[in-house]
This record gives sequence, structure tokens and C-alpha cells, in this order.
Amino acid sequence: MAPSTVERMATLTRAPASRRGRQGASHRSTVMMKIAMAVSGAVLLAYVTAHMVGNLKIFFGESSFDHYAHWLRTIGMPLVPREGFLWLVRAGLSVAVVVHIVMAVLLTRRARRARPVKYVHRPPVQGSYAARTMRWGGVIIALFVVYHILDLTVGVANPVGASGKPYTNVNADFDHWYITAIYTVAVIALGFHLRHGLWSATRTLGRQRPGSERMFGAIATGYAVLVTAGFLSVPLAVSFGIVG
Ligand code: HEM
Repeated sequence: MAPSTVERMATLTRAPASRRGRQGASHRSTVMMKIAMAVSGAVLLAYVTAHMVGNLKIFFGESSFDHYAHWLRTIGMPLVPREGFLWLVRAGLSVAVVVHIVMAVLLTRRARRARPVKYVHRPPVQGSYAARTMRWGGVIIALFVVYHILDLTVGVANPVGASGKPYTNVNADFDHWYITAIYTVAVIALGFHLRHGLWSATRTLGRQRPGSERMFGAIATGYAVLVTAGFLSVPLAVSFGIVG
């Protein structure tokens, strides 16, 4: 279990001044990294939520869905060039993804260095299970996003790959059970990742008070279920013939 603030304070008080300084700086940089992780996660969460809501336009028909994709490319015109706003969003997202992954790697290394010898007298604790789930979930989501962009943005991995026709491409995808399966696994991984990420972000940003843990857990779970269900509704609706 991670040392509590009181235990950490006690260690700092006992340590010699130079070591105390080093430990204090290290603790501060860990907190900064966790904040960077939480802020980049919040940017990605905002995008994912907006994307999920936008995807629901598919239930309003082909022209509504395709028009939405067209609108994304023309926001701000003629003040900004075509796709100018979209590229701005893409740049922001890319920075957030890089920061999120780099912080995850650095924080994992730091946690490993802090405990070089594994516990031998205890079964794996819940914390390490969650950390493992986050790591593998993150890898699955990253691989999925690469495939997903090649599939629905670039079109080279799509069975049809019609330019400017996302409705056609989405339908072409989910007429194949194995593509529906790939999306289902990735979206469920995203759901677990969001649930744990949201919950631990409330701790990092200091909102978690004793007694409020259950409430934040319920909010995190509710939000993750909502986003997961919203995303899953599209591939499932196409697969079961409700859309298309
Ligand atoms: C499961 C259902 C999903 C569907 C039906 C879907 C649909 C789409 C479509 C149609 C596009 C192309 C949009 C366009 O070019 O106008 C797109 C792009 C994209 N999607 Fe998804 N998506 C899904 C899930 C996800 C998830 C779970 C993520 C993130 C974890 C994600 C991230 C992205 C990204 C980053 C792009 C590229 C946007 C750009 O052009 O810059 N999508 N998606």
C-alpha cells in the first residue's frame, strides 16, 4: 500500500536535511506528473465524450451523419482555412496523448523504483490489479486508435473507404462481425480505463474526502457506463440491422 501523507511526513521529518530536500522535490515532481496525467486525461475525456455524442447522429440517417462530418471540416470558415479547426483539435489531442503516455510510463517507473522488491508475504493487492488493467487497457486503446484512424479517417483499412462518406464506411465496417468484435473489445477497454482514470483523478486533484469515496466511485462508474453504451450503440445498431 502507498504510504499515507502522515507516514510520508514522518519520514521527511526523520531524514537528514539533504535527503529531506531530495525527497520533497521528488514528491513534488510526482504530484506534478499526476496533475499532468489528470489534465491530459480530462482533455481526452472531453474529446471522447463529444465524439460519442456526435456518433449518435447516425440514428438520424445518412445525410445527418455525413453532414456532421462535413461541418467538422468547415468550422470557422472563411476565417480559418478548410479543416483548419479540425487540425487544431488534432494537434491538441496529439499533445494530450503524448503527455498522457509519457507521464504513465514515468510514474510507473517511479513506483517500481520505490519498491524494487515485490511483496512475498501478500497476494497482489487491489492497487496493482488496477494499475495492470490501466496499463493493458491503455495499450489496447492506443492500438485501436491507430487502426480506427486508418479505418474511418484515412479509409485504407475500411472495407469500402469512400471519401467524405462516413455513413457508408461505418455501415461497411459493422456488416462484418469481426470488426464489430474489435470495436466492442476496444470500447469496453476504454470504459474500464475511464472508470479507474476518473476515480483516481478525483484523488489527485484533491476532491476526494474521507467518506466521499463511494460517491466518486459511483459517478465514475456511471459516466464510464454512459460513454461505453453510447459508443457501443453504433456498431451494435448496424450489426443488428437497426441502422443501414
Ligand atoms: C465505437 C464507435 C465509434 C465510431 C462509430 C466512430 C466513428 C468515427 C468516424 C466516422 C470517424 C471519422 C470522422 C470524420 O472523418 O469525419 C472517427 C474518427 C476518429 N475517432 Fe472514432 N468512432 C468510434 C469510437 C472511437 C473511440 C472509442 C475513440 C477513442 C478512443 C475514437 C477516436 C477517434 C479519433 C481520434 C478520430 C480521428 C478524428 C480526426 O479526423 O481527427 N473513436 N470516428
